[in-house]
Amino acid sequence: MEMKDKTVVLTGAAGGIGAAIALLFAQQGAQLILVSRNPDKLEALNNELPGGRHIRVVADLSAPEGRQHLLEACGGGVDILVNNAGVNHFGLLQSQSESQIREMFELNAIVPVLLTRALLPQMRKSGFTIVNVGSGFGSIGFAGYCGYSASKFALRGFTEALRRELAGSTVKVLYLAPRATETSMNSPAVVAMNKELGNAMDSPHWVAAELLKLLNKSTGSRYLGWPERFFIKLNGLFPSIVDKALAGQLPVIRRQAMAHEREGS
Ligand SMILES: NC(=O)c1ccc[n+]([C@@H]2O[C@H](COP(=O)([O-])OP(=O)(O)OC[C@H]3O[C@@H](n4cnc5c(N)ncnc54)[C@H](OP(=O)(O)O)[C@@H]3O)[C@@H](O)[C@H]2O)c1
Repeated sequence: MEMKDKTVVLTGAAGGIGAAIALLFAQQGAQLILVSRNPDKLEALNNELPGGRHIRVVADLSAPEGRQHLLEACGGGVDILVNNAGVNHFGLLQSQSESQIREMFELNAIVPVLLTRALLPQMRKSGFTIVNVGSGFGSIGFAGYCGYSASKFALRGFTEALRRELAGSTVKVLYLAPRATETSMNSPAVVAMNKELGNAMDSPHWVAAELLKLLNKSTGSRYLGWPERFFIKLNGLFPSIVDKALAGQLPVIRRQAMAHEREGS
């Protein structure tokens, strides 16, 4: 897809993967509408981007006023919406608060649905593309990630249903599922857990490049990493095999979940 002069709404723009997407898209000549709750981070990001002419929207997307504020900034029309903002609270379900669980469902699943619905009327006649940034854990339920996995399963289900609902229209609905990525979303305990379990972590710039490939392909979903892609397929066909494989990892996950709790206290 030709990115030059495309208007792109990017949520979570100041985060690890978001900033990498912003840089790549700006280098390709896109006009960005960058969203974050933090004006200083947005300003710093904008100053690093070629041109520095991008629109900055300070908004908490879990609040209706925040989403309204973003919609007002999109009045000129939008070509691409990247639903990238997300949150994870790593830990065993019993130690998670109601507000943490609600925050994950709200931001990871409900906000993308509401933003997409609100932005559909702003789409350009020539076409509109929605990219939902999910996770490998949106296809494999993983211990220590109950709320997060459930919210990303919901996002994947939304993507699939909307893609089918809009089949034959000029709207494309895409899904990117990164595996573990080196951003501040992952606490030191999560990084240590991934190391112990032998789970690779990707750079956010590589993930951004994969998202661009998905846009260029303009159809379907992209699941990142090997052997993660294989386990996603296996989990779909024979989940009991994956149950057994993951049961062996449980002691490490439990120990690191407790370490994560201690980090936070
Ligand atoms: N890192 C990984 O291992 C990994 C793996 C698979 C998938 N993903 C997915 O990739 C996406 C980006 O994650 P990341 O690793 O780049 O995380 P990150 O560095 O923590 O960035 C997350 C972004 O979400 C934004 N955000 C959080 N709450 C918000 C709210 N209420 N309103 C508006 N924005 C909000 C934050 O913006 P401000 O704080 O600036 O407001 C932040 O920029 C997420 O959807 C995540 O689930 C990440």
